[in-house]
Amino acid sequence: MKPINVGLLGIGTVGGGTFNVLLRNESEITRRAGRPIRISKVADKNLELARQVTQGRAVITDDATSVVTDPDIDIVVELIGGCGIARELVLAAINNGKHVVTANKALLATHGNEIFAAAQKKGVMVAFEAAVAGGIPIIKALREGLTANRIQWIAGIINGTTNFILSEMRDKGLPFATVLADAQRLGYAEADPTFDIEGVDAAHKLTIMAAIAFGIPMQFDKVHVEGIARLDAIDIKYAEQLGYRIKLLGITKRVSRNGADGIELRVHPTLIPSRRLIANVEGAMNAVLVQGDAVGATLYYGKGAGAEPTASAVIADLVDVTRMHTADPEHRVPHLAFQPDALMDTPILPMAEVETRYYLRLSVSDQPGVLADITRILADQHISIDAMIQREPGEGEEQTDIIMLTHLSREKHVDAAILLIEALPVVKSRVTRLRLEELDK
Ligand code: HSE
Repeated sequence: MKPINVGLLGIGTVGGGTFNVLLRNESEITRRAGRPIRISKVADKNLELARQVTQGRAVITDDATSVVTDPDIDIVVELIGGCGIARELVLAAINNGKHVVTANKALLATHGNEIFAAAQKKGVMVAFEAAVAGGIPIIKALREGLTANRIQWIAGIINGTTNFILSEMRDKGLPFATVLADAQRLGYAEADPTFDIEGVDAAHKLTIMAAIAFGIPMQFDKVHVEGIARLDAIDIKYAEQLGYRIKLLGITKRVSRNGADGIELRVHPTLIPSRRLIANVEGAMNAVLVQGDAVGATLYYGKGAGAEPTASAVIADLVDVTRMHTADPEHRVPHLAFQPDALMDTPILPMAEVETRYYLRLSVSDQPGVLADITRILADQHISIDAMIQREPGEGEEQTDIIMLTHLSREKHVDAAILLIEALPVVKSRVTRLRLEELDK
């Protein structure tokens, strides 16, 4: 049977993994796809690397444009990354009538609306399973497996680097900077880890999941993003004493207020009860918890990065495209799960309007009346305290830490309370504020 021809842009870690897995599992994949899937052309600036990986089984070139314009290529796999040349090549491939498979979360989160519109116009598919949580088939689950549900919320550990760092900080009681340096030395963190540790990578993935969960356009610029670089190891310890673990979560939630829907879109370190399965996802692993109205909570766990786990997702897309490319475009699964003309402009809630629970750590003078002053400010801002611990001051120490967990409160009220608390003369440093999610309904 005539193979479907794939042009591969970028044969680095994931590209190499894709090439090798396709070759190793060729007969199994062909039985599933109905015809062979062959990477016939590879573009990479590093021709020597391309030669080593392909071993004469594909034409290699350093001219990516020659791949996206090649009339013999049916599907273009984009594994270059970033939003520059990758965007131009993806749009060129679409305009040349090619289907596209990409692992590029940054590209889809920031230019996805433009790319899907171009693909719809041309009647081609853009598949992106590998863009979110690597080998976990979360796109397939959200777009197809859970299609009966009104999705209520998603909470995901969708960045392996930060989960590895947080796990090490908790296990070894070490500060962030020490663990990051170790992670870089061991190759768990990039030389420039900014996108990972500042939460940007997670925000890209969250943007994509929110779009397909709620049927809204990609809105990366509306995500509230906080990373883990300023997280103090002491808060991991206090959280543990209170029965919680701290994870960098991407959270998107549908909320209804005064009869109108809004969507929360936020990435930040989050306290979650230690007894939850997702709280026990350690090291570089990823996990996504999805709450649907019919199915309830479902949890997806696996490797979020790496050559073969990500190749697993890329090849799943190649098989999907191979099966569906002769179908009428209107009979295919829509890119964003909802029909393109049924996307909604449900507003993204500003962070000030988000309601959640809070962890507050205050460094205060150990003297009478301090707690009364603080609780008065919280009460005035409608913030109710659920639990509290005070560290026993050391011998001769005049300062101590107070840690409070609040009931559900609104972010803007907490902002206002923190400003007032920090202005009290007995409060000795900035208030540490973390958010807390029970993840139970
Ligand atoms: N850098 C990402 C992570 C993997 O650490 O999870 C690719 O998205």
